[in-house]
Amino acid sequence: MEEQLKALQEQMEQDAAAVGSTEELSAFWQKYLSKNGSVSGLMKGLRDVPPESRPVVGKAINQFKVQAEEVYQNLRARIEQAELENANRSEQIDITMPAVRRSTGALHPITITKNQMIDVFAGMGFEIFEGPEIEDDDHNFTRLNVAKNHPARDMQDTFYVAEDIVLRTHTSPGQIRVMDREKPPIKVLVPGRVFRSDSDATHSPMFHQMEGLVVDKGITLCDLQGMLDKFVQTIFSGDVKTRLRPSYFPFTEPSVEVDVSCFECGGKGCPLCKHTGWIEVLGGGVVHHKVLENCGIDPQVYSGIAFGIGVERIAMLKYGINNMGLLFENDLRFLKQFKD
Ligand code: DAH
Repeated sequence: MEEQLKALQEQMEQDAAAVGSTEELSAFWQKYLSKNGSVSGLMKGLRDVPPESRPVVGKAINQFKVQAEEVYQNLRARIEQAELENANRSEQIDITMPAVRRSTGALHPITITKNQMIDVFAGMGFEIFEGPEIEDDDHNFTRLNVAKNHPARDMQDTFYVAEDIVLRTHTSPGQIRVMDREKPPIKVLVPGRVFRSDSDATHSPMFHQMEGLVVDKGITLCDLQGMLDKFVQTIFSGDVKTRLRPSYFPFTEPSVEVDVSCFECGGKGCPLCKHTGWIEVLGGGVVHHKVLENCGIDPQVYSGIAFGIGVERIAMLKYGINNMGLLFENDLRFLKQFKD
């Protein structure tokens, strides 16, 4: 037994010298100190030792056990320390290294334009309302004074989702939704995406509009022009003015097309304004009495003005973009030019 212990001790010292990693440390523990390890084996073997020798042998085994545990603890401390140092070394940060260049994102020109437009009208006291993109025929057409079979329905190439359900062709249904829920005085702006089956250099099947609606006592076309003057002066930054031309929309009477004096040439005539000195920017008018009535507002007491602005059109004019497709292709070379 004594010899066996001695051999084991030598073996343990050899094994200990070879331990260099956590895995090897754990193997060492398994071999000597676990339930099935050598120390336990020796303890069990004590049964076969003659009773008179047991105290001595038992003591020797115990000493071996204490020694093995001590070796194990020392190894553990050494390995933990080594691993910590290793980790410190590999995780070291060289703070003198040049930083990786990160490119930041930027707002899309449509978003920039939309935000600027909202800012102008919010400054005049407009509230923001957003309606649904999927609309019923009633809100998109009928209650805006566009009855079934009304020829004005042909002005807008409508996407139908189901019978009497459409992708809204304009933000004007927002007018109905606002008047259904609020009584005058009303002053709202309805920004949103709209959809039409139309696609060329100046049209896209999805684009953005901003609807304005003001209803109160004594509102006239002059209020419309005053607000729009302020709007174009802020957006096109400068000494520009508006001109109203007679037009037709079923939901306004009278209806107007609004032009801005050319901010490129100052009105003298250039390619941008097609040598007319004026650029068409939006449609609007005095809210038709039938539209007010359709929303339970008495046209004898109240009057309103409304307008609809195409956001892409404003962005294209503002930034000199000649193809609407550029706004939707999301080519980074194009978009990066709008970084402030
Ligand atoms: N909804 C019209 C369109 O999409 C634009 C418009 C014209 C809106 C006149 C209005 C308005 O509110 O009064 O073509």
